[in-house]
Amino acid sequence: MALRVGVLISGRGTNLQSLIDAEGRGALGGASLALVISNRPGAAGLERAASRGIPTRVIEHRGLARPAFEAQLTSALEEARIELVVLAGFMRVLTTGFIRRWKGRLINIHPSLLPAFPGMHAQRQALAAGVRVTGCTVHFVDEGVDTGTVIAQRQVAVRPGDTEETLSTRILEQEHRILPEAVRGYAEGTVRHGGGKPTPAPSDVGRRP
Ligand code: GRF
Repeated sequence: MALRVGVLISGRGTNLQSLIDAEGRGALGGASLALVISNRPGAAGLERAASRGIPTRVIEHRGLARPAFEAQLTSALEEARIELVVLAGFMRVLTTGFIRRWKGRLINIHPSLLPAFPGMHAQRQALAAGVRVTGCTVHFVDEGVDTGTVIAQRQVAVRPGDTEETLSTRILEQEHRILPEAVRGYAEGTVRHGGGKPTPAPSDVGRRP
């Protein structure tokens, strides 16, 4: 049975596209993109998903308290029987309630070599710090900001004269490689939270292994 993957986005969705393309060429290791959720109605990533026949949902955060917003996310993910949630440019901070519900089944892509430069504008932070090497990281999400267990990283050299834009573009190329690899690893069982089995979803509790 394919691992059912849900992707949360807020915008252009090029990382989502990398997953769509990887699935198309059989490089997701049996993972199947089963739902894309955006918190913004106009997100370009929604069109990328819809054009491949992947179900999409818009769940707007505006006007909702965080717990209510996240309850809607979880309902949509549960309805679609999602087993792995990928944050791919999802621009909302998630509360511990949501993170605990999906712990071990929730991963994020971040444009720096964590633990360096967590939070917003990671590429700008790298340029300001004057580092020669930065990169990108796929990690499990825990209750901190970009602090969870690292799954995959790739380095990108900072070039003289780099701007935030030129550096972001080169980092993004590497993001598009490591995110599908990480999802594939998860699907194949080589990537596991804490090195063990993923946290059972409430629906799994009490089920025999
Ligand atoms: C990426 O740089 C990702 O690392 C960060 O947000 C950006 C999303 O880009 N979390 P896209 O929407 O996937 O093109």
